[in-house]
Amino acid sequence: MSNKNIDWNNLGFGYIKTDKRYVSNYKNGAWDHGVLSGDDMITMSECACVLQYAQTCFEGLKAYTTEDGRIVCFRPDLNAARMADSCRRMKMPVFPEERFVEAIVETVRANKDWVPPYGTGASLYLRPYMFGSDAIIGVKPANEFQFRVFATPVGPYFKGGVKPLTLRISDFDRAAPKGTGHIKAGLNYAMSLYAIVDAHEQGYDENVYLDSATRTNIEETGGANIIFITKDGKLVTPKSETILPSITKRSLLQVAKDYLGMEVEEREVALSEISEFAECGLCGTAAVISPVGKIVDHGKEICFPSGMSDMGPYTLKLYNTLRDIQLGRIEAPAGWIKEIN
Ligand code: PLP
Ligand code: COI
Repeated sequence: MSNKNIDWNNLGFGYIKTDKRYVSNYKNGAWDHGVLSGDDMITMSECACVLQYAQTCFEGLKAYTTEDGRIVCFRPDLNAARMADSCRRMKMPVFPEERFVEAIVETVRANKDWVPPYGTGASLYLRPYMFGSDAIIGVKPANEFQFRVFATPVGPYFKGGVKPLTLRISDFDRAAPKGTGHIKAGLNYAMSLYAIVDAHEQGYDENVYLDSATRTNIEETGGANIIFITKDGKLVTPKSETILPSITKRSLLQVAKDYLGMEVEEREVALSEISEFAECGLCGTAAVISPVGKIVDHGKEICFPSGMSDMGPYTLKLYNTLRDIQLGRIEAPAGWIKEIN
């Protein structure tokens, strides 16, 4: 049980330095043993590949305190696999998947006092990441890398908790066909910074990106996948080679089918059809499920019938079931919950 002096119920999504982080270095073709370190600072060459050419990727997952007081993580094996995919695409050495999960377990265990108590709505966010650390001046991959995992307690990603969001259709693109949209590379987020600042300045919570090849299909937002609910209660979510394969989305598709008996459909979703949907939400580790009340397409408001004050009924059922699974209130599918002793 946590003993830190933190107002858990009012945490935002920010960085709080915790006690220990996991660090492993790659040199001469091999990863070292890895340690838990008390040092939150990183020293490296001014010419490090990550600083010059953004050779870096990351992951995000959460640890929770369950109703019966256990500390658990949600599907860390899928983060390990996705990070391996990101590394391969970024010409970085894969940190072995079993070691990735072990690093998560060790980091949570070493920061047990920072895991928010059950019932606060907060969680311990884990950020595994890797970067090219040696000096590289010609455009090529680094030879040396560092893999780290830090932990920070967080509350809701969007201010206002579960108040429905207002999104806008972005004029900027997020991912090119055959580009890096399907992996979790820092560069995908660097290029979204201008767009997110602009969206906030214009009064929107987030950008909805379209497919950059045709600009006719819905892709995702800067930090979450999108789900829609049809008027007859079917879950529809965009299928695209250029969006990040969200672990939350993949889990929700199974929850919708197996726990709620809903029909689900992963397919291209045209911008022109979204006014037909009854509900909309963003899903991701940070976003969990955040309801969307309105999407604005160049002045044209698409208002979902679920409205601007509450989650729609299907979104709420999905949210409650996912949270029940993560917090140990109902049985999870086999392998979804990793207990940390
Ligand atoms: N899409 C983007 C661009 C993201 O950054 C994230 C966050 O991780 C997601 C989707 C959601 O993925 P997940 O559910 O695996 O956290
Ligand atoms: C996550 O949900 O873990 C992410 O990495 C999204 C990011 C925008 C915070």
